Formats: sequence, C-alpha cells, structure tokens
Amino acid sequence: MSLIRVLRRRGMSYIIKGAIIVCFVIFLVNITSSYPKGSPLILQHQIDNAPSVVHQNVAENFHEPPFAQPQNQEHHEDQPEPQKLVDKAQPRKVKPILGQDDEHEPESETQALQQPVNKNPAVDTKYESVQLKTPRTEDEKLATQLKYTAQAPATKPNRKGAFYENIFVHFDLKGAPPRISYFVNLLKLVANSGATGILLEWEEMFPWKGKLEQFKSTDAYNNEEVKEILDTAKNLGLTIVPLVQTFGHLEWILKFEEMRKYRENDAYPQVICLGDDEGLEYVREALRQVIEVHKDYGLPFFHIGADEAFEFGVCEKSRAWIRQNASEGGKQTLALNHLKVTAEFVKSLTGQETTVLAWHDMLKDFQSQLIKNLKLGTLVEPVVWDYSENIVTMPDYSFSVLAENFPTIWASSAYKGANFPGAKYIDIRHYETNNRAWVTTKSTQQRKFSKFQGIIITGWQRYDHLAGLCEILPMGTPSMVLQVQIALQAPNLDMNAYRAAAGRILQCERDAFSVNQLNLINNRCGFHGGSYTK
Ligand SMILES: *[C@@H]1O[C@H](CO)[C@@H](O)[C@H](O)[C@H]1NC(C)=O
Repeated sequence: MSLIRVLRRRGMSYIIKGAIIVCFVIFLVNITSSYPKGSPLILQHQIDNAPSVVHQNVAENFHEPPFAQPQNQEHHEDQPEPQKLVDKAQPRKVKPILGQDDEHEPESETQALQQPVNKNPAVDTKYESVQLKTPRTEDEKLATQLKYTAQAPATKPNRKGAFYENIFVHFDLKGAPPRISYFVNLLKLVANSGATGILLEWEEMFPWKGKLEQFKSTDAYNNEEVKEILDTAKNLGLTIVPLVQTFGHLEWILKFEEMRKYRENDAYPQVICLGDDEGLEYVREALRQVIEVHKDYGLPFFHIGADEAFEFGVCEKSRAWIRQNASEGGKQTLALNHLKVTAEFVKSLTGQETTVLAWHDMLKDFQSQLIKNLKLGTLVEPVVWDYSENIVTMPDYSFSVLAENFPTIWASSAYKGANFPGAKYIDIRHYETNNRAWVTTKSTQQRKFSKFQGIIITGWQRYDHLAGLCEILPMGTPSMVLQVQIALQAPNLDMNAYRAAAGRILQCERDAFSVNQLNLINNRCGFHGGSYTK
C-alpha cells in the first residue's frame, strides 16, 4: 500500500530521472561505438603506426622503376641480358594481367578476392549501370554532363597565399587512355574536387604526325579528342601542364628496332643517346607537336620529365661529346647541358612565359657546382617526387642540397599506381599517409626555398612503359579526390574533415566513403567507374 502511495507521490520525479539516465546511457553508447573509436583527435604518428594493408613491400617507393638494372653506371659489362625488344608487329595495347600470380600480393588483397559481394569492383554492377546509361543517347550524355557542370567551379580558384597554391592531378595516359566521355566526366570531378590543374602525360596516346606517327599507339586519341579533353579542362578553369619525356623513359620510341641505334645502352630502351643530335631530333619533334597543340590553351608550365635516367654518357656519340665539350664534370656535364638546352628549346617554342619543370631525382645527384655553372636553377624547377609513407628518399640534407641551386620547388605525391607493380586493388590509406606526410615535409622544408609552388598528385598507370596496368583509374578515383582534399585543407590534417569532404564530392551515401582497407570500394557512391578504356 505504502509503495503505491510513494509511487503516486513521487511518480513524476522518478519518470524524469529515469528518462535522464536512459538518455545518458544512449549518449554514452553512441560516443563509444561511433567512428573513430576513442579520441576523435587522431595524431599523425597514430596513422603512421596504424597497420596498413601493404607496408613491407620493397617496391613501395619506386617511381617508374627500370628493369632490374644496376645503378652503378660505370660497370655495364656485367649487366643482365638485354631486354626483349618489343616488335612493332606485336599488339601494343597492354592489357591488365588479371589473375596473374604475384608473390608480393598482400594477404588482404587475396582475401578480398574471396569476398562474395564485390568480386571485381571495376565491373561492379552499379558502376556498369552508371556507365551504360551515360553514352547511349546524346540527350543522356548531355544530361550527365550538365549534372557535373552544374557542380563544377565556373572560375579558376584563386589560391594565392594558400598552403599549396597549385594542386595538380596527374594523368598518365600510357597503356590505358580513358574513353573521352569518361575522361570528360573525370575532369569535371577533378575541378569539382578543388584541384587547380592537371599534368597530362600523353606518351604514345598523342595523335603524333610526321616522323613520330609510326610510334603512335593504335589506341591513340585523334585531334578532335585531344581538343575535347583540352577544351573541357580549360573551360573548367584547370591549368593544363603537358609532360614530354626528354632524357630517360623514352621506351615508347626507343623500344622500336629502327630506334635502337639511338639508345645510350643497347640493352635498355630507356635513355636516348645524349650526344646524338639525329636521335634528339625525335625528342625535339615530340616537344614541337605537343607545344603546338597545347599553346592555345596556355602553357604557364611545361614538364620535361627527366627522371630515372640510370645510364647515360656511354654511347659512342655521348663519349665523343664528353671528350670534346666537357672539360670538367664528364657525363654529368653532358646530362646537365642536355637539360639546359631542352629547357631553352621549350621556352623558345611556347611563345609565352613558360616555367619548365623536371623531376628532381637526377638533379639531386649532380654536382652542385656544375649545376651552378650552367645556371640551371634559373631554367628549371624541380618536382620532388616521393610516394612513400614517410618521404624516405628525401632526408633533410637532400632538400638543402637542392636549395643550393633551385630557389623554387614542387612536391609530388601519389594517388594511385605507386604502391607495387602488380597491385589490382588500391590501398587508399597508403596514399593518404603519403599525402599527409608531404604536408608535414613541406612545412618543415619550405623555409629553405624562396618558393614552394605546389603539389602534383600523380596517378601512374603502370610501373613503366612495358609493364602491366596497376590500380586502374576507376579504383584510383576516390583516392584522387581524397588526396586533393588533403592538399586543399593543408596544413590542417583533420582526417574527419577531409574524408567527409571527399565523401561529399564523390556523392557517397552517408558513411559509404571510408578509408579502411578495401571498404572504400562499394556501390553507394556516385562517381563513374566500370568499363572506361577507349
Ligand atoms: C660539342 O658541342 C657543340 C655545341 O653544342 C656541338 O655542335 C658538337 O657537336 C659537340 N661535339 C661533339 C663531339 O659532339
């Protein structure tokens, strides 16, 4: 009896107290179970220490590595067998090697293959349906384009004074050039993501004419397609930077039998004999043709490549050049002179103020005094590439050495194709860590330079011209958007903020975008994927 009386009298206050306690418990359960677990403040070292899908791989930081080639340039007697020449009659379209055994394949990738839901995300049904809908009729094509155009920024973003003034996304077109409709949409996504420009590496996919036509891929774009790509990029306010290799990585021409005589070393179709003016004429012709097409779109920057030229100064004509023209510095003088002449040649052709960029890895190993004598620092801006998780190839002193001659530099990170050569699935966390590491590196190193121009976020199609594809574009797209968000929000490294921004840009449903092993590949986002090659 007394219990009922108590309840009647105190009923209301018990109900209120009870409700408060229930609310509090729900609140507690919520904050302890929602992502990220624990403190929402996640520090850089926690990311770096977090187990990643692929960590231990030796090839982690390779750029476009050569064929297991000795780096010692003096001893070429004991080099491996010459690389098998690619015959002109052979199919030139490199297909992805599916199901290829790869002993470096990470465990989780194999596990992913066994997952029943997403056997192959590149041909996920949702992506297919998106892709199939797009090109059917002109109206549908237009509707899709409008959908993206509506979101794309109308004017060039002004990033003066920002952490990275320039944020360029790299498109390596060798091997698998995207179809135009796909590429146009991708460029809209690039602009929409906030990048300020693109670096275009055409290689054998350019509509080469004249003496270069014979090296053109059967998948190459035609003039109208190139125009459509460039028009789209320009209308989106993107700065367009072409890249033409001029020193090493000339496999796309040197692999042909008739070009063999222009190699530095007959065993490798990579480096062109720098002392052979007849051979260099092919390089100059490539520069002429690309500049001719690009100059109407503006050429504030031009990239001459020049990375990973592991052997030079050994062909007969190079040795003669060194004997006659290099009173000091030997083959380094030959290489540096070549870069100088090439940079001047580019500047003379563009008919406008053009800054010449080159990868840094050769420059950093040349004698500082030789670079100074040639005043290369006034002609070329190095782009420092490092795709590792803690920028392993660029210790403090390497930046100091570069700073002796080059007042202005660029950073280069990766969004795809730089983890290991046989990678079919993308480890987005790996690239996230690489791009975060660049933010920290830039902050600590930039005081050595008068200007740090920006970042080029690279997406490699394959490890070199003769290798198979890795981490194809549809798979690399979410990573591209994510890495651009990191660059945009830098120096702020709040992962919740940049990940949320990436999810929005990719039109992902709530929580559908995550940087957690392979979960990122799902069908609840709105970007294009699926059958994308030309
Ligand atoms: C030395 O340099 C000059 C000027 O560039 C060039 O014309 C000449 O051919 C070079 N000598 C040799 C042996 O290549």
